[in-house]
Amino acid sequence: PGLATYDPGFVNTASCRSAITYIDGDAGVLEYRGYPIEQLAESSSYLEVAYLLLNGELPTSDELAGWTHEVTHHTFLHENLKQFIQGFRYDAHPMGMLMASVSALSTYYPDAREIADPENRRLQITRLVAKMPTLGAFAYRHGQGKPYVYPDNDLSYTANFLAMLFKMSEQKYNADERLIKALEVLFILHADHEQNCSTNAVRSVGSSQVDPYSAVAAGIGALYGPLHGGANEAVLKMLRRIGTVGEFIEGVKAGKEKLMGFGHRVYKNYDPRATIIKKACDDVFAVTGVNPLLKIAMELEKIALEDEYFISRKLYPNVDFYSGLIYEALQFPPEMFTVLFAIPRTSGWLAQWQELLMDKDQKIARPKQIYTGARTRDFIPIEKR
Ligand code: CMC
Repeated sequence: PGLATYDPGFVNTASCRSAITYIDGDAGVLEYRGYPIEQLAESSSYLEVAYLLLNGELPTSDELAGWTHEVTHHTFLHENLKQFIQGFRYDAHPMGMLMASVSALSTYYPDAREIADPENRRLQITRLVAKMPTLGAFAYRHGQGKPYVYPDNDLSYTANFLAMLFKMSEQKYNADERLIKALEVLFILHADHEQNCSTNAVRSVGSSQVDPYSAVAAGIGALYGPLHGGANEAVLKMLRRIGTVGEFIEGVKAGKEKLMGFGHRVYKNYDPRATIIKKACDDVFAVTGVNPLLKIAMELEKIALEDEYFISRKLYPNVDFYSGLIYEALQFPPEMFTVLFAIPRTSGWLAQWQELLMDKDQKIARPKQIYTGARTRDFIPIEKR
C-alpha cells in the first residue's frame, strides 16, 4: 500500500535542493556557487574555494586570512590518535585508516553533537578541514614505517601536506612550487560534485542529526569504492597491467571488465575536470619527467573515443582517468590516491551537511522500497522444516 516510485540508484530522484554546485552533464559544465571550475582552477586556492563552498561567496582578503589562520591553528591531532593509527597493521589501506580515524575524532570532540549551534558547527567544520591532511599523512607514514611529521604552520595547506608526507630530515621541506600548484588545482577540482555517492552518504547519515565526524566517515566509506573515488587507484593498476591496448578494449566491450576512469552518471560529455587535469599533467611532468603510463592512457582514450561501444553509451574520461598519473609522478603509491580525493572533498561534504541542516524541509533520509518477498505465513518448528 502507498505509492512508491522505483528508482534504483536515484537516477531520476532529486533528494534535496542545493545552491552549492551546478553541473550540466550534456554540456560538460561544472560550477561552484556559479563560478566556472576552469576559472577557479586557474586563479583560486583550495582554501579560498573551500570558503566559497561553505559560505556561498568568495572571501575578502581579511576573510581569507582569518579562515586560513583558523584552519592552520587546528591542523594538529590529539597525541593519542598517533597510538590509534599505530594500532593498524603495517599494510592497512590508508582509506580504511582515514575512515576509522575520522570516526575516532567524534569521540575526541563530544561537543560536536551540538549541531544546532552554528558557532559549534563552524568549529567542527574548521577542525575537519584542518585535520584531514594530517590524518592522511599519518596514515601514509604508518604504511611506510616512517616517523610521523607534525604540521608546519608556516606552510600553505598543500605545501604542509606534502611536507608531512615526504619530509625526511630535520631540515625544512620545500616542495617545488609547480608541484604545490598542481596539487592545489587537483584539490580545487575534487572539492565538490553535488549529489555523488559519498555526498549522498554524508547527507543521508547526517540527516539522522549525528555529529559531522560520523557523517564524514560514512562519506569516506562511500568514496573508497572503485566505482566512485577508488577509481583513481583502479585506473593506475589497470594501466600498469595492460599489454595491448586494442586487445584490452575488446575485453571491455565483451563485458570482461570496465574501462576504469571512463563514464559518469551525470557527464555525457568530456568531464571538464579531466580536461584541466590533462593540462596539469604537462606542468607536473616538466618537473618530474613524463610518466610512461601517459602514452597508454592517451592511446586508450583515442581508441575509446572513436569506438561505437563508447560513443553510443556516451562514455568519456572522467576526473579519475588522468589524476593517478600525476599522483604517481608526485611519488604517491596508488593506495594513497583516494585519500587525495577525500581530503579536498571534505569541504564539499561539510558544505552539503551544513546546507542540509539549515534546510527546514529536510527530513531523515528514509527511502521507500518495493517489497518482493513472501507474504504472511505461519512459523514452522525447526523439526518440521
Ligand atoms: N567501461 C565500460 N562500460 C561502461 C563503463 C566503463 N567504464 N561505464 C559504463 N559502462 C557501460 C555500462 O556497462 C552500461 O552498458 P549497457 O547499457 O550495455 O549495460 C552503460 O555503459 C551505462 O552504464 P551504467 O553503469 O548504467 O552507468 P551509471 O551511471 O550507473 O554508472 C559509473 C556510472 C561511473 C559508475 C560507471 O560509468 C563506471 O563504473 N565507470 C568506471 C568507474 C569509474 O571510473 N568511476 C569514477 C566515476 S567519476 C568520479 C567519482 O565519482 O569518483
